[in-house]
Amino acid sequence: MSLSLKAKVSSNEPVGPEIYLLSLEAPAIADAARPGQFVMLRVSPGPEPLLARPFSIHGADGGKLLILYQVKGKGTKLLTQACPGSELLTWGPLGRGFDLTAERPLLVAGGMGVAPIAFAIEYLCNKFDEVRLLCGVAGTVRHEALIKLFAGRLGSARVKIRYSSEDGSIGRKGLVTDLLKEHFSTSQPLKPDTVLACGPLPMLKAVALLCAEFEVACQTSLEAPMACGVGACLGCAIPAAGGGYLRACQEGPVMEASLVDWEKI
Ligand SMILES: Cc1cc2nc3c(=O)[nH]c(=O)nc-3n(C[C@H](O)[C@H](O)[C@H](O)COP(=O)(O)OP(=O)(O)OC[C@H]3O[C@@H](n4cnc5c(N)ncnc54)[C@H](O)[C@@H]3O)c2cc1C
Ligand code: FES
Repeated sequence: MSLSLKAKVSSNEPVGPEIYLLSLEAPAIADAARPGQFVMLRVSPGPEPLLARPFSIHGADGGKLLILYQVKGKGTKLLTQACPGSELLTWGPLGRGFDLTAERPLLVAGGMGVAPIAFAIEYLCNKFDEVRLLCGVAGTVRHEALIKLFAGRLGSARVKIRYSSEDGSIGRKGLVTDLLKEHFSTSQPLKPDTVLACGPLPMLKAVALLCAEFEVACQTSLEAPMACGVGACLGCAIPAAGGGYLRACQEGPVMEASLVDWEKI
C-alpha cells in the first residue's frame, strides 16, 4: 500500500559536492518501506516544478525517511533549498524492492547506486553475520564525502566493502565489474547465489552479463524517467526480454536481470 502525505523536512544537508542527505518525517511511509522501493517527491512546496521526482529510499528509521540525492537539474537544485520545517508532498513506498531471501547475496553499487543499496545492507545485517558490498566510484575527489557517509552509516564490522575507482584513488583501479569478475572467480565454492545491483545503466548491463556468464541470479534496480510513478503514464518503459515492455515504477525498479532486454536498453 502506498501513501501520499506532506512530509516535514527534518534536515537537508550537503554531504559532498552536489550530494545531499534529506531526512523527512514520514512515519507511515517509513514503516512500510522495503529496500529497493522509492518515493515520488515534490521537490518544492511551491507550484513549480509540477512533476514530482523519483528517489530511492536510502533508509527508514524512527519514522524518518532518508533520501540521498545528487543535484542533476532544476528539480534537485530546488530540493537543496528545502528548509527544516517545510513540507514536501511525498508518496510511497512505491515499486518492487529487492527480494532479500538469498542465502549468499552480494551487493554491487555504482556511484549514487549506493542510495538504495545502503538500505538493503541494513536489512541484510539483521540476517547475516557478514554482508559483502562491491562499490564502484568514479574517483575519490568527487565521492570522498559519500564514501565517508556510507562507511559511517554502514561502519559495522559485518559489512565488508571493496572499492574500485576509475582513477585508482581508492581500491582497485578500474570498474566495479572488474571486482565482480574477480569475486566470482575466487569465491568458489561459496560463490554468491544472488547479486543485488544498483548504478548507471551501462554498469547494470555489464553486471547482468557477468552474472549470466557465471550463472548467478541477478536483481537490478533500474532508473528510468518517471512522470507519475504509479503505472499510469508509461514514461518509464523498459524493453523486456522476449518483447514488450516493463514499467520501472510497477514491475520495478528492481527487476530480475533475465527479464530485461539489455541489448535494447
Ligand atoms: C526509481 C528511481 C530512483 C532514483 N533514486 C535516486 C536517488 O536515490 N538519488 C538520486 O540522486 N537520484 C535518484 N534518481 C534519479 C532522480 O530521480 C533524478 O536525478 C531527478 O529526477 C532529476 O531531476 P532534476 O529536475 O534535478 O533534473 P532534470 O532537469 O529533470 O534532468 C537533469 C538530467 O538528469 C537526467 N534525469 C532525469 N531523471 C532521470 C532519471 N530518472 N534517470 C536518469 N536520468 C535522469 C535528465 O535526462 C537530465 O540529463 C532515481 C530515479 C529513479 C527512476
Ligand atoms: S512513471 Fe508513469 S508508468 Fe511508470
